[in-house]
Amino acid sequence: MKASLRSLAVLLGLAALLTGCERPPMESVQRGYRGNGMEQVANPRLVAMQIPKHQAPDPLPPASSEGPKASQIYQNVQVLGNLSAGEFVRTMTAITNWVAPEQGCVYCHNPANFADDSMYTKVVARRMLQMTQRVNADWKPHVGATGVTCYTCHRGQPVPAEIWSAQAPKGRPDAMLGNRFGQNEPSLKVGYSSLPVDPFSTYLLGGEQGSNEIRVASKAALPDGSNPMGTKDAEHTYGLMMHFSGALGVNCTYCHNTRAMGEWANNPPTRNTAWYGIRMLRDLNTTYLDPLQPVYPAERLGVLGDAPKANCATCHQGAYKPLYGVSMLAEHPELAAPSGSTTKVASAAKEKSKK
Ligand code: HEC
Ligand code: HEC
Ligand code: HEC
Ligand code: HEC
Repeated sequence: MKASLRSLAVLLGLAALLTGCERPPMESVQRGYRGNGMEQVANPRLVAMQIPKHQAPDPLPPASSEGPKASQIYQNVQVLGNLSAGEFVRTMTAITNWVAPEQGCVYCHNPANFADDSMYTKVVARRMLQMTQRVNADWKPHVGATGVTCYTCHRGQPVPAEIWSAQAPKGRPDAMLGNRFGQNEPSLKVGYSSLPVDPFSTYLLGGEQGSNEIRVASKAALPDGSNPMGTKDAEHTYGLMMHFSGALGVNCTYCHNTRAMGEWANNPPTRNTAWYGIRMLRDLNTTYLDPLQPVYPAERLGVLGDAPKANCATCHQGAYKPLYGVSMLAEHPELAAPSGSTTKVASAAKEKSKK
């Protein structure tokens, strides 16, 4: 009797353990030279389940560009003033479908006066229009001609599924023992690893100058004092890398040859694209999203009172390219309008060429 109880307990234990595993068969694709382990491993059953999530909606029929401009007809149009009245209403209809399909126009508008800016959502949406134009005009090294629209991040919801804000330190930050530096707090954002849960404040905020250095590997074989980076820095880097993998649904070898993680020449070109993605997010979070803090109501802010921000998952949502690389931008040239500044990208590229 005792023995059978024990074997039941063992069986239950095993069952509990295995529910954490993915059911086979798995598939793997070799992406690098033979023998260097550069493979992508995926579970086709789980990939198939994800497909519906990454479909772009059908475009609206085009509108005529004839007639007076929106800036002439309406009172308070600051970004989209060059569109014809027809194109303007088409854009309003599209952003309603992309961001607030259930709530409709009144999610951003006071129905008594559409020119009124009293709703925070409208003020945020205007900044979002500028941010989207910025991405499409100035961050082509990352988003290419594919570009982004509101749908890339919003997918039919006012609050995108993947956002982040600064995390309150757990444990006792004042004590010598007990400050966990955000570690051992399992979070999906870092693949449920024990790595720091908020690598984003460290690496995706503060602009190019204000952000911390991600590279941690030493250039010399033996410690010679030339590498200022410590174990804590490496743990933060790995936390960020776990996020990259999860956000794109790929293994580390999608961007790295693990023989030399830090060497550009030996790593796939996807790592270059990712490098620009990091710089793009520093720009978006620092220039557009974080400064919206005073505009949001308290319930939208993070635990430390900062504005909600974007990371790789905000656009990618588990796919190697958002919407598997389908471009919705071609149907919405108004969101591709040049924002007028390419200096940021150029200086970022210059910095990279130094390394
Ligand atoms: C996600 C937020 C959002 C939604 C939803 C939205 N709008 Fe707008 N709307 C804006 C923003 C932002 C502006 C200002 C654009 C600018 O400054 O270029 C604007 C401006 C307007 C204006 C110009 C008003 C004026 O006199 O200045 C009209 C008209 C308008 N929207 C109609 C609509 C209609 C109709 C719908 C529903 C089909 C709609 N909007 C849905 C954000 C939104
Ligand atoms: C790079 C990703 C990204 C893109 C592209 C984007 N947004 Fe956002 N949006 C965000 C994030 C992050 C937030 C903050 C979420 C929150 O409000 O909690 C946000 C918030 C908003 C909100 C406030 C919602 C609320 O209830 O608090 C509106 C409205 C909005 N976006 C409209 C737009 C429109 C319109 C576009 C396209 C012109 C757009 N967004 C494009 C990431 C994006
Ligand atoms: C989507 C592409 C991408 C994925 C996936 C990715 N990385 Fe990275 N990784 C990068 C980029 C880009 C850098 C360099 C960042 C910089 O220079 O600012 C980097 C840097 C690193 C570094 C620092 C290298 C150095 O020179 O010190 C390590 C270590 C690293 N990654 C490990 C990993 C691990 C482990 C994984 C899987 C959990 C992973 N990466 C997944 C793009 C990626
Ligand atoms: C504003 C939305 C957005 C954000 C945020 C974003 N990406 Fe992307 N990413 C894209 C788009 C769009 C493409 C497709 C570009 C194309 O088709 O050429 C892309 C492509 C890529 C690719 C190339 C994939 C391939 O197979 O060629 C990599 C790698 C990548 N992103 C990594 C990242 C990483 C890492 C981050 C976070 C640091 C990030 N992205 C953040 C929109 C975004």
